[in-house]
Amino acid sequence: MTIPYPTKQTATAFTEVEPPSGAPRPRLSFLGTGYLGATYAICFAELGYEVLGFDVDEAKIAKLAGGQVPFHEPGLDELLRRNLAGGRLRFTTSYAEVADFADVHFICVGTPQRADGMGADLAYVETSVTRLARHLTRRALIVGKSTVPVGTADWVEQLVAKHTDPALRVEVAWSPEFLQEGFAVEDVLRPNRIVVGAKTDWANGLLYAAHKGVFDLAATEDREVPLVVTDFATAELVKVAANAFLATKISFINAMAEVCEVAGGDVTQLARAIGYDPRIGNRFLQAGVGFGGGCLPKDIRAFQARAQELGAGEALRFLHEVDLVNLRRRGRVLQLAAELLGRRAGPAGPDLSGTRIAVLGAAFKPNSDDVRDSPSLAIAATLTKAGADVRIYDPQGIENARTAQPTLTYAGTMAEAVTDAELVCVLTEWAEFRNADPQALGELVAQRLVIDGRNCLDSALWARAGWQYRGMGRPHPQV
Ligand code: UGA
Repeated sequence: MTIPYPTKQTATAFTEVEPPSGAPRPRLSFLGTGYLGATYAICFAELGYEVLGFDVDEAKIAKLAGGQVPFHEPGLDELLRRNLAGGRLRFTTSYAEVADFADVHFICVGTPQRADGMGADLAYVETSVTRLARHLTRRALIVGKSTVPVGTADWVEQLVAKHTDPALRVEVAWSPEFLQEGFAVEDVLRPNRIVVGAKTDWANGLLYAAHKGVFDLAATEDREVPLVVTDFATAELVKVAANAFLATKISFINAMAEVCEVAGGDVTQLARAIGYDPRIGNRFLQAGVGFGGGCLPKDIRAFQARAQELGAGEALRFLHEVDLVNLRRRGRVLQLAAELLGRRAGPAGPDLSGTRIAVLGAAFKPNSDDVRDSPSLAIAATLTKAGADVRIYDPQGIENARTAQPTLTYAGTMAEAVTDAELVCVLTEWAEFRNADPQALGELVAQRLVIDGRNCLDSALWARAGWQYRGMGRPHPQV
């Protein structure tokens, strides 16, 4: 039976079903304890659920069980420790234990870009679902949270049918997540919407019970969490459509930056001015070195690949352009560096040999230690390849950066990175860089040249301190 599309907070429209385990509230498992699964496991324990986190990575599980979050996410460590101590949260590497424990199993494993193309690699989804399914001995609900190509939920349903006893009546649902690194705790505890693709009243009822903590918290704060109940395909598409829209918005403003650069305009003022129109909105209009991370770049590629398979490739052809604009912005930093350092471009691009450059930022965005597809790190590698002696500093991302790019050179502090540099490139907008004193930094460098790859510095202040400033899509400040 189909549940009608809700017009207002419809949580009460669902009847709670009794959890198959007999526990008063559904017990939850989260398979895959990366950014997504670990954050969800910890936050749902905080909401009062009994939670089991699972991963095949023993070192990661040992860390989490020992009270240490394996990545940087503000506020999460404290919640982890509190809920471990409270006894509501445990971690395991055993599928059997997960199957025995939980009523609702959330699949949170990674879906990286395939090595041989643009599509998503579903190997981890397949392994986790299959192995879990084989261990199930009572009814349960398997809920996909990973970002997947449309059609995956149907395929997961077939996998479950193949590997479980039909008498158990195990069901599948899809509920995408929208958490942003750096704000993940808030996004899970206070989501701006919950989207559920489910086929039966039983699945809807159990999912409602599994999210009741979120609705209850909202009610105590006099907020509403909109709930969209839909079919599998729509639930899967909502996620990739949202990320495609965000990526498009960023590339739109970066395309405007390109035009501003040749026309002599200022993209920051342009963004501010168009952003006052509520139909446009001022968020995600920050021009700079573009988007990176483990989601946006791979999601727009996988979306195109899937649309192509379905015969709708043309509908998403613009996403190819979105990707190209995004990658072009990285090249702009090399171009600006050569210009500022007085280097001519040869046939192989500019030669920066003999120059010393400080790169401030390695993470793909501030308040994160994630360097996956990070524009900052990619630019640091390009500058190094062009012959520059590059020193990279990031407040949290150095360890991951060193693993990803072991041949680059890293500094332990901002001061160490900029000392004797002929050019400073600010490529991730950490508060430490935004608030840096240009006068004090000026004492350390060999010459006062700065590229503001995120348009996050006060250009007039830096210019007054004697720096030659170059932003992205902005005119040079007059002192
Ligand atoms: C993104 C989405 O924002 C989340 O809603 C989604 O749940 C998540 O992907 C996911 O699929 O799991 P996230 O990857 O954490 O979240 O990062 P964003 O905050 O979206 O930023 C992505 C990139 O865009 C960063 O490199 C950031 O620096 C860049 N960006 C963002 C800009 O260049 N300009 C902007 O105005 C905003």
